[in-house]
Amino acid sequence: MVAVNKFNILICSQDQSTSSHCAVILRDQLNCDVDECLHHSFFNLIVKNRPPYDVIIFIKEQFLVNELKTQREINGINHIIEIENTSLVNDQLQKLINKLKITNGDQGLPKKITNQNNLLYSSLAQSDTANELFYNFEKISRKRYPKINEKVSNEYRSYIIQALKICEINPTILRKIESHFDLSSNYLSHSYLMALTSIRLLNIFNLLTPLNAVYMALTSLLHDLEFSLAKKFKTETEAITALENGKFDHDPQVSKIILYHGENAAKLIEGSKDIPSWVKQALIKHHERPKGKGFPNGEDIQNFEVESLIFILSHVIADQIDMIHPENLNLQHILKKINFADFETTSLRNNLHLVQKLDIINS
Ligand SMILES: [Fe+2]
Ligand SMILES: [Fe+2]
Repeated sequence: MVAVNKFNILICSQDQSTSSHCAVILRDQLNCDVDECLHHSFFNLIVKNRPPYDVIIFIKEQFLVNELKTQREINGINHIIEIENTSLVNDQLQKLINKLKITNGDQGLPKKITNQNNLLYSSLAQSDTANELFYNFEKISRKRYPKINEKVSNEYRSYIIQALKICEINPTILRKIESHFDLSSNYLSHSYLMALTSIRLLNIFNLLTPLNAVYMALTSLLHDLEFSLAKKFKTETEAITALENGKFDHDPQVSKIILYHGENAAKLIEGSKDIPSWVKQALIKHHERPKGKGFPNGEDIQNFEVESLIFILSHVIADQIDMIHPENLNLQHILKKINFADFETTSLRNNLHLVQKLDIINS
């Protein structure tokens, strides 16, 4: 019988020693109830017969995470934590323990983790907002890019939905995304294209993990959220070209919006400690280019984190795609036209030849 004020935690890991290591620490530090699931085939049985779990921890179990996400009928699961690498176990576990201790205080224990700013503990919300948002993103993007590779977009669908669930937690971000549905904006399709391109490049460069794919999708969704000139311009590239040609010299307000939309996007996630540093870097600096050719600061990107570099590289590609009429889109032609040599001073140098494998648009 579970005591009323005890957390109920389930650990899913096929590695028995890691699992029991975690269970001992959790029981010891939280005096909680911990169950262990050591094989996929036990998962449904355990979850259905011993609900509700307050927290489910998956250690290198992406298969189960995906399965769980599709089983919306399972109620009572408040929070899942995905640990993608056993070397991160101690660190992540300590974060969880600290969080639960803070939530609990010295008194009784609430059954839900209440700090919604902590995006690591993304809730399996019962609401369908993220799915509805995704439906709109997908619908508009398929119209804008009719030759999109269906297989690839279906493969990455869950990462984008997961990122939208993270956005859903923050009302400011959610409201801003929804406001773009009213604009004749390319925000939706451009962000979707950025998510597909950047996640695909992670995959091609052999750097794809569920966690960095979700964060890449999140970065894509946020990076132009503060770019509200879309009504005036068909694409972001068009607006930036206009800025470069001095068209806004008489209107410093507009120049400011364009110049600092990355920085303003990063402010949306200020204080979310669990978001990796590269997300912020990629948001603030997604228009910086090799050899200091970008803006707002003309900073050289050579020492940027690898994920930020992939995001910037994806933006260079997306800019080219967005300049071509959808019917005439030929990704191979576009890729041949781009000068990737500029990225040779960065840590992507050994992977640049692989960019030609990018297959997000059918020829
Ligand atoms: Fe931008
Ligand atoms: Fe953009």
